[in-house]
Amino acid sequence: MRKEYSKWLLYLREQAFTIFSKYSVPRWMVFVIDNLSVFLIFLIAYILRFNFDFAVLTSPIVYNHALIATIVYSVLSIIFRSYSGLLRHTTLTDISLVFIVTTSSTASLIFLSLLSRRMGWGDILKIPISIILIHYVTITVFLFFLRVFVKVIFRFATSSIKKTRNILIYGAGELGFVVKRVVLSDSKYGFNVTGFIDNDKSLQGKKINGIPVYGSAVLSAEFLSKKKIKSLILAEKEITIDEKSRIIRSAINLGLEVLDTPEVDKWMAGQLNTSYFQRVKLEDLLGRDPIKLNLDLIKEGLNDKTILITGAAGSIGSEIVRQLARFNSRKVILVDQAETPIFYLENELRGKFMDLQFQILLADVTNLEKMEYIFQEFHPDIVFHAAAYKHVSLMEENPHEAIRVNVGGTMTLTELAVKYRVGKFVMISSDKAVNPTGVMGASKRICEKIIQAFDQIEGKKTQFIVTRFGNVLGSNGSVIPIFSKQIRDGGPVTVTHPEVYRYFMTIPEACQLVLEAGFMGQGGEIFVFDMGDPVRIADLAVNMIRLSGLEPEKDIKIKYTGLRPGEKLCEELLTDKETTLPTHHPKIMKARIEEIDGPAILAKIDELIDIIYTLSKHQVVKRMSELIPEYKTNNGKLKEAKIYRGI
Ligand SMILES: NC(=O)c1ccc[n+]([C@@H]2O[C@H](COP(=O)([O-])OP(=O)(O)OC[C@H]3O[C@@H](n4cnc5c(N)ncnc54)[C@H](O)[C@@H]3O)[C@@H](O)[C@H]2O)c1
Repeated sequence: MRKEYSKWLLYLREQAFTIFSKYSVPRWMVFVIDNLSVFLIFLIAYILRFNFDFAVLTSPIVYNHALIATIVYSVLSIIFRSYSGLLRHTTLTDISLVFIVTTSSTASLIFLSLLSRRMGWGDILKIPISIILIHYVTITVFLFFLRVFVKVIFRFATSSIKKTRNILIYGAGELGFVVKRVVLSDSKYGFNVTGFIDNDKSLQGKKINGIPVYGSAVLSAEFLSKKKIKSLILAEKEITIDEKSRIIRSAINLGLEVLDTPEVDKWMAGQLNTSYFQRVKLEDLLGRDPIKLNLDLIKEGLNDKTILITGAAGSIGSEIVRQLARFNSRKVILVDQAETPIFYLENELRGKFMDLQFQILLADVTNLEKMEYIFQEFHPDIVFHAAAYKHVSLMEENPHEAIRVNVGGTMTLTELAVKYRVGKFVMISSDKAVNPTGVMGASKRICEKIIQAFDQIEGKKTQFIVTRFGNVLGSNGSVIPIFSKQIRDGGPVTVTHPEVYRYFMTIPEACQLVLEAGFMGQGGEIFVFDMGDPVRIADLAVNMIRLSGLEPEKDIKIKYTGLRPGEKLCEELLTDKETTLPTHHPKIMKARIEEIDGPAILAKIDELIDIIYTLSKHQVVKRMSELIPEYKTNNGKLKEAKIYRGI
């Protein structure tokens, strides 16, 4: 019997749940139901007043009075919008609005009735006061219970069917409460709030609205498994970025899904919705304060200038363009040889930055004639040089191309910069240029030396500046998009070595610092960016798997493939001979660089470029290490002195 009863209960619950998930009563219908109730209950009020004598309903005046009451109620409900809340989510405010409307319509009806008696307007408005009062009590109680009834049924329907995901809300302040209300009222996601976490000790151990408040110590495996907690929603805006990333890291490590509450200005029409909660991103794990820029310096530097960006379609180049677009430059010249990526960039810029004056040029930076035409035609005031080949393993196989594109491209552009009296030339270098073990890094170090050498030229107008930094998150072909794809494909995630560490920055962070460094530089500097602490790539893989809601090794395997030629366990930001000086920006340091014999180096580089395709890979590498004595290849194949024309 009991079993039969629970079966029915479950059936009813499922049916109600289906109805609630499919339909919600539109506001106009709530308005119609309310007003129909006012009309019918007015008739009932007459029957009650006349001791259940139904004959009273035969008098037309009764219907006239009911109609007048309904008209008064409907006008006031439109004014106070008492029908506008969703019945299933009725709040105290909605109930108060109903009360205000019934009370004010009762007062209006009494007033009309008394006035009509006084003025002798006949029976039509002379509604008996007793009827108005009976109606007042009945309609108020009815509308109140109607709303509570729908809410209770809704709770019943959704209580055990979907509410299966126990969550914690970080922050028991105002925002935490908004979040609690929103998640509990949205049955689709089935959240059940197990508790709040708050740093305020005076709240810890107490219950708010029946929900306990804990300290952050509850973020432990034991507590989470005991309470079967699956997710944590961050609803605290008053914490530092460091603290936030610490909470996210520990929650992710405990296998929780971590969701963040968007800023209020991103809520549509000021309303928060469960669908707005977003899984935290990898950037949130890095815990980095936003970069503060000296906007005046940059603004002044870019004002009315023509700016040329090479490699404009790449991760760094395109972000420099986006950052520049905020400022009032005269024209931006975008140079890249990759047709499709630059096509997409053009579309993006046309859509996003209507006021930006820009010119797209498909060109190879190693093509002297084409580049000379560009300098002659547009006379750039500033050059950001980001065009390069950057993939370490590919450059190990193709050292000739590293020299032709990275070194040759930089030589061409620096010569043209001096010839066409460019004001500033900012080269984007990489931490891989420091004590390089690979061809790519060594080629970038040669580029740095070219910049240094050109800066020594007497009487030149150009300030030559190098910016050097480590990996940026999510750039083309970098570890993050690769891991993401591997996770999407079901794994394994491939990591070269368990102890490989890399520095990381976001692309916007790096490019903002490029601008800042570019304009603080006077020429001849290598600016090195503070990248924070290096990140263990194996941890990054684990975190990315967890951020995708999966369990490392259980859902997605991690496979170690061994360091590839040219790669290091840990990158450095300074060579052995460099130390740093601080600048006015806390995240930018100036490297105290070693002296070089500029003309001699440039002569050797010129010669190398001229004869590059007559050399074997081994000979290219040998020549590179003559230019960069600190370059020690770790690529066994390149150490062998075999003659190979690898063109
Ligand atoms: N991505 C990083 O993590 C990172 C970190 C530090 C430094 N850097 C440096 O920044 C520079 C750009 O890196 P990225 O991540 O934007 O690379 P990317 O591959 O996304 O972009 C490079 C762009 O240069 C273009 N290019 C290559 N050869 C060219 C040529 N001969 N003529 C014209 N255009 C050419 C490519 O088409 C591409 O659009 C590289 O020098 C790299 O070493 C990158």
